[in-house]
Amino acid sequence: MTQALLIGDEAPDFEADTTEGRIRFHDYIDGKWAVLFSHPKDYTPVCTTELGYTAMLKPEFEARNVKVIGLSVDPLDAHAGWARDIEETQGHAVNFPMIADADRNVATLYGMIHPNADDTMTVRSVYIIGPDKKVKLSLQYPASTGRNFNEILRVIDSLQLTAKHKVATPVNWNSGEDVIIVPAVSNEEAKERFPDGWNEVKPYLRIVPQPGN
Ligand code: BEZ
Repeated sequence: MTQALLIGDEAPDFEADTTEGRIRFHDYIDGKWAVLFSHPKDYTPVCTTELGYTAMLKPEFEARNVKVIGLSVDPLDAHAGWARDIEETQGHAVNFPMIADADRNVATLYGMIHPNADDTMTVRSVYIIGPDKKVKLSLQYPASTGRNFNEILRVIDSLQLTAKHKVATPVNWNSGEDVIIVPAVSNEEAKERFPDGWNEVKPYLRIVPQPGN
């Protein structure tokens, strides 16, 4: 049985053929954030909508210094034909590399095949990987449920705020709303980081406006 990849683990490195040439994953990340996501199969309806939408979001990912890369266990020539359909039906050409993982090397490394669901294709996995190459988030969705890529952007916003400002984000938070000083920050450090102060609802619940907003 494959060991699950956990938050905080190093994202496994690999070499693979993609629609934009052969890559070594860690070199591809190149100090940026990355989203690696699998789709179960080429020429399928839900995947078609997801890839078109993700292509439309490219400026949003770029604004956050994030590289996006897709994967399916189909060969390169299938990816190319399907990309034309995606542009035709979704109005957005795929503008990020898609890994052709026909030998399932990457899918296996990342635990994207859940054999008790289906042993011929991947589930809908998402890994958000930080510039330190560590896994920051993993999502596993069934093949029949399209993911919410706006939620993925929202998580990236939260992760980047935590990395830069040591704040966490509360339930249903959206960018621009108040955030929470992480418990590991003492009041002394908080005074330096947040000189305008904070709303101390409880000693462990200290609310500040979103930094840098
Ligand atoms: C789809 O992308 O539409 C899909 C793929 C596999 C199973 C169910 C749906």
